[in-house]
Amino acid sequence: MTESASVIDVARRAGVSLGTVSNVLNRPERVAPATRERVRQAIEELEFVRNEAARQLRTGRSRTIGLIVLDVGNPFFTDLAAGVENAAEEAGLSVILCNSGNSATREDHYLSLLQEQRAYGILITPVTGKNDRIQELRARGMQVVLVDRGSAKRQCSVSVDDVVGGELAVAHLIAQGHERIAFVGGPVSINQVADRLVGARRAARSAGLPKTAIRLIRTPGLNVAAGRKTGEQIAGMPPRTRPTAVFCANDLLALGVLQEMTRRNLDVPGDLAIVGYDDIDFAAAAAVPLTSVRQPRAQLGHTAAELLIDEVSSPETHQHRQVVFEPELVVRESSDAKLST
Ligand code: RIB
Repeated sequence: MTESASVIDVARRAGVSLGTVSNVLNRPERVAPATRERVRQAIEELEFVRNEAARQLRTGRSRTIGLIVLDVGNPFFTDLAAGVENAAEEAGLSVILCNSGNSATREDHYLSLLQEQRAYGILITPVTGKNDRIQELRARGMQVVLVDRGSAKRQCSVSVDDVVGGELAVAHLIAQGHERIAFVGGPVSINQVADRLVGARRAARSAGLPKTAIRLIRTPGLNVAAGRKTGEQIAGMPPRTRPTAVFCANDLLALGVLQEMTRRNLDVPGDLAIVGYDDIDFAAAAAVPLTSVRQPRAQLGHTAAELLIDEVSSPETHQHRQVVFEPELVVRESSDAKLST
């Protein structure tokens, strides 16, 4: 059996450098079409097969980015993952998606797995604000970029200003005349939830409303089931003390509250105005189109992946950046009756 051809054999057959062969394999868009064709012809004639294991041993890393998110059941994260995938594809890389399920234990398991698999680098929405495991991996040469989470100056991160997002949501409800507003979300140990609550309270303070104007209704999670349960709780309150509006920490919670209001024949926004966060596709498609604070989900993912690729491929020139996008309020029927057709 003839020994399998090497990259050197391909380069020699095509009359190009090893770097050109590597670019054809990993970044074909960087190679002139005629040269690219010559290399591909040599690969075919020599029946060359890339030896990924040998490449990993030589470079110390695979060509697969590890992406660890809190909840793959939340379209926010799958939309973000699509942005990561687009950037990875442009660079000739792949993506492995890991779901921590808001569990620090599972998050550590995936961090160890990605290290063992020599991941190209890691993008993560951490379960808690501080994870020693992440810093330990970075100290051992694994590049890690935080997504949907801010970071200190010495690390790259991509996030949205969730304090401003919370302020936009509640200022809108106050402008609609609401003075009894519930903030629905939790656990507040999740930084994004805590920041949105800070923004909500800041909006009430700026409008001269008392602290009691924002009633915190904690939830065990950020999903539809928790939203439905909260909707049941609110519907059971006496109308004279019941909140007239809710700002939910994300759209899944808001859609759960909306579903429960509809099931109980309570009018949205008449009996209860609802605002969510993320502006996932289901928000606009809801039975009562949902007002939401839009996060640029695919852009968050794409930007995070670009920062990671730059940090890995150009360590000598890379500058850590903490990219913060501005949120945008998208007003729909669930908070503004004037929009109801
Ligand atoms: O990452 C925590 C939350 O922030 C997620 O639920 C997602 O919806 C984003 O808004």
